[in-house]
Order: sequence, then C-alpha cells, then structure tokens
Amino acid sequence: MRHGKIIAALSAAALALASLSGCGTETKTEDPIIEGVSGDLEIFSWWVAGSEANGLAALQGVLADKYPDVNFVNNGAATGGGSAKDVLETRMAGGNPPDSFQVHAGAEAQDYISAGQLEDVSALYDEFGLNNVFPKDLVDMLTQDGKIYTIPSNVHRSNVIWASVASLEAAGLSTEDAYYDSIDAFIAALDTAVAAGIEKPLAVGATWTQVHLLETVLMADLDQAQYNGLFDGTTDWNGDEVKAALAHFAKLMTYTNVDRDSMDWEPAMNKMFEGAAVFTIMGDWVPGALDAGNKVEGTDYLWAPSPGTKGTYGFLADSFGLTVGGPNPEAGKAWLDVISSADGQTAFNIVKGSIPARTDIDLATFPAYQQAAAESFKNDKIVGSIQHGAVATIKQGNDTGDAVSKFTTGAMDDAALATLQGELAAAYA
Ligand code: GAL
Repeated sequence: MRHGKIIAALSAAALALASLSGCGTETKTEDPIIEGVSGDLEIFSWWVAGSEANGLAALQGVLADKYPDVNFVNNGAATGGGSAKDVLETRMAGGNPPDSFQVHAGAEAQDYISAGQLEDVSALYDEFGLNNVFPKDLVDMLTQDGKIYTIPSNVHRSNVIWASVASLEAAGLSTEDAYYDSIDAFIAALDTAVAAGIEKPLAVGATWTQVHLLETVLMADLDQAQYNGLFDGTTDWNGDEVKAALAHFAKLMTYTNVDRDSMDWEPAMNKMFEGAAVFTIMGDWVPGALDAGNKVEGTDYLWAPSPGTKGTYGFLADSFGLTVGGPNPEAGKAWLDVISSADGQTAFNIVKGSIPARTDIDLATFPAYQQAAAESFKNDKIVGSIQHGAVATIKQGNDTGDAVSKFTTGAMDDAALATLQGELAAAYA
C-alpha cells in the first residue's frame, strides 16, 4: 500500500538529508518571490504555546523581513492530537478557511487532498526552486495524481525518551545513558524508580500523548516490516505480536501520572523536572522546550531512542499548503515561500527541535540534538508515526484515540485489552 512503500523508501531518501552541507544544486534567493503582496495572512496550526509558538514566531520573523506588507494573523488552536483538527474542520465546513494550515505529510495530508481542500501547488515548487531540495519520497507523500499539494517545513522523530538527570539520580538509575534495550528492561527501570519512592516515574499527558507512547511500543516490539505491515494489511492487528505490545503498553500506563488526561505534552514533560517523574516518551519538539528553559543536555536531561527502538526512526513531517477558498492566496504563497526557504527552515528548525526537510542546509549551526537526529534519519530504518499522521488517516487517528482513551480511562484489565485490540484492528481494517 502507498504509505507503507513510501515510508520504506524514505530510508534511502534520508541519505540525502543530513549528509548535506550546503551543497544543494538549487539555492533560493532571499528576495521576495511573490511580488506586491499585502494584507492579512491567516495561518492555522497547533503551535500555540511554549517552544512550538517560538518556532512559529521564528517563521513570522522571516515573513516580516521578507514580506513586510503582509500582516501575520495567527489563528491556531491547541492540541494537534485532536481538537485543533476539529476546529479546523469546523472552520472549513463553515466556509471560513485560513489561507494555510499545518498538516502532516502522509496519510493525513491525503485526507485533505481527497476532500478537495488543498490547491495544487506544483507550480510553486518550480517558482521557488524546490524540485530538488526535498527527499523525493517525502514529496511523494504530498502528491496525488501527479500534483503536489503541500510543502514540508521540517522532519520530526517521534520515538525519543527524555529523562531528568536529577530524577534519574533520585531513582538510583544510570545518569549516563537513558537507553533501555527492550520494553521489559524499561519496566525494570520504572520498578527501580517506584522502589526509590517516585510513584509515577513515566510522565504522559492527554490521549494523543498516550497514542504517541503506544506507537513507540509498537515500534519496539515489532520489526520494521511488521510495523509497516500494520498499515498495508500484511500484519494482523489481531495477532500475537500486537497483543504482546498492547500488554506492554498497558503495563507502562500503570507507571504514569493520574492527572494525565488534563494536560498537553509540555506540562507533562515538566513533571520530570519537578521530581514527580523520571521519564517521558515524546517527539523531538521537546528539545525546543528544554532549550527555552535553559536545560542542558547531560547536566539536566538525557535523551535516547525510546526503549527497544535503537536503529529505528519514527518519522513525521509538518507541511503547509494553500487552502481552497482561502481569503488571501497571494499571502498564502508568500507564507509557503517563507516556510520552504533556507532562511525559514533554518530559523524554524533550530528553535523547534526538528531537522529541515530541505536537504541543502548546513546543519553546523544547529544544536547538537538536531545534528544527532539528522544522523539517525540518515542511518536508521524509517517507520511512520501513527499519532502524527504519516501512516494513519484522520479517521484512523481519531478511532485510535477513542480506543486508547476508552482503555486508559477504564479498568485496563485483560478484557479491556482484548477490546482495545479489536477496536484497533477495526480502525485499520
Ligand atoms: C505534532 C507536530 C509537531 C508538534 C507536536 C506537538 O503533531 O507535528 O510539530 O507540534 O505535534 O504539538
């Protein structure tokens, strides 16, 4: 099936990214490309708080330099895992679309393309000189019937564990290395933390962050082919591998904070620094928040691939398009120029924690985390994120969230596990 193949092919495409050092064949002028543009530019995203808002602000800064007559109107909504997409859908259905909106490359973007909500922006790839600057397989994820509908701003990794050094110390765990080579080894570490008095050592937030945790457990317990097979029908969601992974997920949830359902990822992550937790498993939008909070790798925190996933890169990418019926399409094009430009991708990704989607940006000026992530993207096996739309459509994502929420707010016993497995199988049937 389409996305499984594309994700597999991204492994090869990743070789192009990260190995680059300013040697692209096409370079962009930093002069404005869209001429005479002015007026409001309405952007919809879920980058509304903390470091993510800082990332958006960095793009806004590049826009202000390049297109000073365009007025940036930030119409975001919190929580990309659910409500932001619902708010967007309501706006679109009500005939009030923004000029451009954040959407994940892959199955999620295909939803909007199929619904006829995105303009074909292939011509802008020519106009902006983008045809050779992105991994081809990433562009394929944004293409339908030969037309390209969005432009990627970044590449994120989902399967990362973050740990507070002070909490590791308090728990009596290694303060040198936060990698655990299996979920069982991680569970043993969590038991050690509990025995040391940290009752809920694994911080999670609301449902979408729990689905995020679940996808990293599937990445650990299934190999690349089995994981990809979940989305092309070749791996049985009702099978024993998935059953074992779900049991691991259920066990991990017993180590998580009880107030989880009321919080987004950043306050959940901060529990590590309040001594209430030791770890969180979250995508690499975390380093932006850590940098913004002046936390130092090695001294304040450690990161590693999430348990059991060394050598695997859980891929997702944010992208933007031009909304059909958007009020100011010329300003929308200016935005796409900004987010795809070398200046825009540099300013944004340094703050955001992600790596540029462009393959011609020298990463020497990027933080150490992004340099390491780029190496992993180059060398690891690539699998697509469920929660962040690479391999799951919006409906599949919603059904997954509903099933997981029902499970984690319920008894989490064997009967509930069987129900969860059946509901997930139905979501991806
Ligand atoms: C993801 C998105 C990231 C980040 C994260 C947390 O879906 O791709 O850029 O915003 O949500 O909000």
